[in-house]
Amino acid sequence: MQQTPYFIFKPKILTQNYLEFETLCQRHLKNFKICYSVKTNSSPEVIKTLNRLGSNFEVASLNEIKLVPKKFVVFNGPCKIEEELRIAIKNKFLINVDSKSELEKIAAILKGKPAEVSLRISLKDSKFGFDEAQLNSIIEYAKSGNIFITGIHFHSGTQVNLHEYKANLEKISIIVYFLEKKGIKLKYIDIGGGFPDKIQLKNLNLSLENYLSAINQHLNKFNVTIILEPGRNLVCDAFELITKVNVIKENFGRTYAILDVGINLLSKITLSAYKFTKINKQDKEINKQKKEYILAGPLLFSNDILGKFIGNLKEGDLIKIENIGAYCYNLAWDLSYNKPKIYIER
Ligand SMILES: Cc1ncc(COP(=O)(O)O)c(C=O)c1O
Repeated sequence: MQQTPYFIFKPKILTQNYLEFETLCQRHLKNFKICYSVKTNSSPEVIKTLNRLGSNFEVASLNEIKLVPKKFVVFNGPCKIEEELRIAIKNKFLINVDSKSELEKIAAILKGKPAEVSLRISLKDSKFGFDEAQLNSIIEYAKSGNIFITGIHFHSGTQVNLHEYKANLEKISIIVYFLEKKGIKLKYIDIGGGFPDKIQLKNLNLSLENYLSAINQHLNKFNVTIILEPGRNLVCDAFELITKVNVIKENFGRTYAILDVGINLLSKITLSAYKFTKINKQDKEINKQKKEYILAGPLLFSNDILGKFIGNLKEGDLIKIENIGAYCYNLAWDLSYNKPKIYIER
């Protein structure tokens, strides 16, 4: 038996998810590029599998640039440095410019040579991109440095509900009309990520197709390539984590099952709903009365609590944790315990 905890990567699920996403894009969009958001899960096998399927990539740092094949790459982020920008320019990445300072850096690298870039536009108050009121002046400023705006980029947030998603698409189409009126010929509308994972779609009583059909409705009228940057929708259920119950204990009237994983691997900031299932079910336990256990991790932090489990647990039981493909691997803390290995399910 493998040493717990360990991750299991399921390339077949990732492949199914990518093909489903691509089929829906083909059904609803005239021209599109899927650029997987690398930060969501940058394990090399994920990148390799998606590359084989024809995916492009969205990166946000030098580390991520080094991980991806140099085909069509979207470069995002509010903190791009000169070294990254030089590589992006040399490899003809689509740069989604986040600030005036970044435009100045690009102009300095290019020394007057013309270039095309995209602008990140923020639909709400945030540290990202430009607000709508800045668009006129930034486009003129770019032009004066021989830099031409041929794309715009938005990101609606993550696990976004359809109502909010549609409202953002509506705002985007108004901005595109405004830019067209100004004589700006866009090649790309990059709509970022925001496609919920399977569990969230089920909770919202929606399907991925609802999102793609909304994009069709609002943006297909423009003669551009739509860039989509899915993250969690592709990888969330393509990873599982296997953990062991190491200790059962009682105090303050509660029963705790202490696992060998905690918030060091299952951070709340991933915004994923984790699903816990005991995998060594034994027949004789069927008639036992169910109990409530608080699932807690091994760390010396009092907030290292993962959730509740109703059933029967004993020390040595194995628990499978599903829906952990987004961020858990990349955010894993190297604190008291090492980052677990990833086994690939063939
Ligand atoms: C710019 C950008 N694109 C894509 C994504 C992926 O988002 P999601 O996993 O919700 O599809 C993110 C995640 O926050 C992002 O910031």
